[in-house]
Amino acid sequence: KLYQTKHLPEELTDGDSGAKISSVSGANRKRKWKEDEEEEQKEVKKEQHKTEQNGQNEKISDQEKVENKTPSQPAVFIPVDRSPEIQEARLKLPVLAEEQVIMEAVRENPCVVICGETGSGKTTQVPQFLYEAGYASEIIGITEPRRVAAVSMSHRVAKEMNLVVSYQIRYEGNVTSDTKIKFMTDGVLLKEIQKDFLLQRYSVIIIDEAHERSVYTDILIGLLSRIVPLRNKKGMPMKLLVMSATLRVEDFTDNTKLFRTPPPVIKVDARQFPVTIHFNKRTPMEDYTGEVFHKICKIHRMLPPGEDEDEETSETMRKFKKAKQKKTVSLPRIDLDNYSALPVDEGDEDREAGIGDEEDEGSDLDIGDDPASIEEKADPSIPLYVLPLYSLLAPEQQAKVFRPSPHGTRACVVATNVAETSLTIPGIKYVVDCGRVKKRFYDRVTGVSSFRVTWTSQASANQRAGRAGRTEPGHCYRLYSSAVFGDFSLFSEAEITRRPVEDLVLQMKDLNIDKVVNFPFPTSPSAEALVAAEQLLVSLGALKEPPRTGRVKEMEQARLSCPITPLGRAMASFPVAPRYAKMLALGRQQDCLPYVIAVVAAMTVREIFEDLDRPACSEDESSKLIQRRARLTQMRRLWAGQGASLLLGDLMVMLGAVGACEFAGCTPKFCEENGLRYKAMVEIRRLRGQLTNAVNAVCPEVGVFVNPKMTPPTEHQVVCLRQIVLAGLGDHLARRVQAEDILDPKWKNGYKTPLLDDPVYIHPTSALFKTLPDFIVYQEIMETTKMYMRGVSAIEAEWIPELLPQYCHFGSPLESPSPWLCSSTGTIKCHRSSTFFRVGWQLPAVEME
Ligand code: CDP
Ligand code: MG
Repeated sequence: KLYQTKHLPEELTDGDSGAKISSVSGANRKRKWKEDEEEEQKEVKKEQHKTEQNGQNEKISDQEKVENKTPSQPAVFIPVDRSPEIQEARLKLPVLAEEQVIMEAVRENPCVVICGETGSGKTTQVPQFLYEAGYASEIIGITEPRRVAAVSMSHRVAKEMNLVVSYQIRYEGNVTSDTKIKFMTDGVLLKEIQKDFLLQRYSVIIIDEAHERSVYTDILIGLLSRIVPLRNKKGMPMKLLVMSATLRVEDFTDNTKLFRTPPPVIKVDARQFPVTIHFNKRTPMEDYTGEVFHKICKIHRMLPPGEDEDEETSETMRKFKKAKQKKTVSLPRIDLDNYSALPVDEGDEDREAGIGDEEDEGSDLDIGDDPASIEEKADPSIPLYVLPLYSLLAPEQQAKVFRPSPHGTRACVVATNVAETSLTIPGIKYVVDCGRVKKRFYDRVTGVSSFRVTWTSQASANQRAGRAGRTEPGHCYRLYSSAVFGDFSLFSEAEITRRPVEDLVLQMKDLNIDKVVNFPFPTSPSAEALVAAEQLLVSLGALKEPPRTGRVKEMEQARLSCPITPLGRAMASFPVAPRYAKMLALGRQQDCLPYVIAVVAAMTVREIFEDLDRPACSEDESSKLIQRRARLTQMRRLWAGQGASLLLGDLMVMLGAVGACEFAGCTPKFCEENGLRYKAMVEIRRLRGQLTNAVNAVCPEVGVFVNPKMTPPTEHQVVCLRQIVLAGLGDHLARRVQAEDILDPKWKNGYKTPLLDDPVYIHPTSALFKTLPDFIVYQEIMETTKMYMRGVSAIEAEWIPELLPQYCHFGSPLESPSPWLCSSTGTIKCHRSSTFFRVGWQLPAVEME
């Protein structure tokens, strides 16, 4: 395997080796678009270049040779057959004016940054420039942080070029051996790097939407900053283009860890019509969704339509609809039952993608109802044609925003921040911006997650406003005051700084990047997060334990550069978070693998159940909802089973749901009747297939065949499953506070975890809400009204010291009169015991110590 060559790790972690090569092109780089900066930097860099080049003469001549005889300066022009309308539309795009400058920069530099407003044509046109200039000797790959963009952009470019353009997202794609241009999510490319570090099938990689700073995009840029020079060194030149919507590219360009010589930045001027910004005098804090609704109705009533116009908010549609129901808005008349002018929409309520996948979880709407059923008839003569737009919406539904609205209607798009930069909707004249963004927050120390609606950044707000001026002058209504805007942070922070990083650390270790701290991240995750990730991976057995003796400084160093173990390699090959990967690695025992795969798939795809807390829209609905809730609760009880199986808790409910659904043929009807999200169930099915293949690849002799139709696990297997779950979720252990220990009433029915001072609770919808087992493991803690554990399973106390000795303090029972109490360090103490059902830790394919 290429990535396992010995010298690679140094080149990856050490900023020097790659940069020396790129300095070659840096030396002859004198492009006009950089002239000003160049002059300033020249003096500073002169000395540096001299010394570098003296030591690098040999490499330079190699490099020059390579460049002369390879297609890195293709002279061929590949004709493209475009329709006259497409050609005309293209010519209007600002990026067309920069084609020569861009292509010249690409020819002369290994890495180029292109900056331009959304809608200037970067995504659709730059791949075409490269194709026409003959760079498609191998594949031209474009990464997008979102699946929506990858799919829709490939279709768009295919249409423009009259050519097959492929896409690849996590579960689907249409790549063939003839593929020349390929759109994919950043997660997909990262997986490909694991298979072929040099990405030999690509001649160009374009990292799109770099300003979004998605974790995978950041890592890709870090990796590619090393891969590109390596490729050039090996005589297989490759180009890297980084495209960004905002001008804040300093993280990439002025980051000497990343690129010793800053890559040239080409600015594409936006062809933007003026957008008048209207601030609110006051800032609604509570019912801002009602306010959005109010504003849209007002615009619809009072303002003239554009050619084809949209209003856009980053908003939750459930509230949108609720606000309307509550009649907080004074409107002529709302007829909710009149759907005639409306498209049929599945009304998916996806919230986020699976762990280890590429979707921005904060970007999705929390939609409770079929959004397309919102119809506004404020002006009886022009119905409002309301379309939802969010990243997990089915592609056909998304495509609707690009089509003209039905004759005689006025379009209104209710969108999340996916419309901020990734997709440009034509003809928007009015933008209503509530100024909020829903983000997932994660506490690094305690591991508690919560979704919070917070103010967006100034850069994002300006992006949103900009959407109104694409085809004619527009207006942006900001539902907050200018003073509030002034308090917004300038830019949104990189995602990598606000999420756990253990999955990334494991992937990087699998790429033999042992010193993750030294990796050239555009923005580095905090040292704290990296330490936490290494610790978790060590405790899962994925990384070698660092030595416990030696000099303090050396031990500190060792703690941050633990090498990967064979188990870790197996885990890294499963496309799920490390805790779940551990479960998969153990799953073959007692023929549990099909069940483990199903449970892991269900835990990875979030929100597989309909939300029972959904508020009712009307009184009539309210009584129906009560009935429905009762039925669904009963259904879940059925899936949870009784006795032994009940102890597997919420995971048993998931397993039951998956099993039942498969037996019923996984139809939308079954899902609807039983409160399952159809889209989630389909995704689980795909993921089960994918995980089965991954497991079979790691241990071929096990030869799992997952029949979609599983029979329920035996009692024996349920016990084994609970232990496997404990082995994976060992750091998510909680102990019920015993009655005699309760001093403060808040601890009633509360659980203690090693890291939190406050109690956590089992959610009322959990299968174990009434059982309240003494020891449990949980999937995650979500803070809503209280700190609730989700995905709870009961475990037996005596399993803990055997399966998780790393988390236990062993003492004789005499030392501590109440051995179940938490010690002051927060460690959960328990007895060693002799009776337990042992889960083996070995994997067949790999030798473990
Ligand atoms: O990437 P960037 O934001 O710079 O622009 P783009 O996505 O390449 O879009 C260029 C133009 O193509 C915009 O004016 C879009 O409205 C248009 N477009 C379209 O009409 N249909 C699509 N499916 C995608 C883009
Ligand atoms: Mg774009």
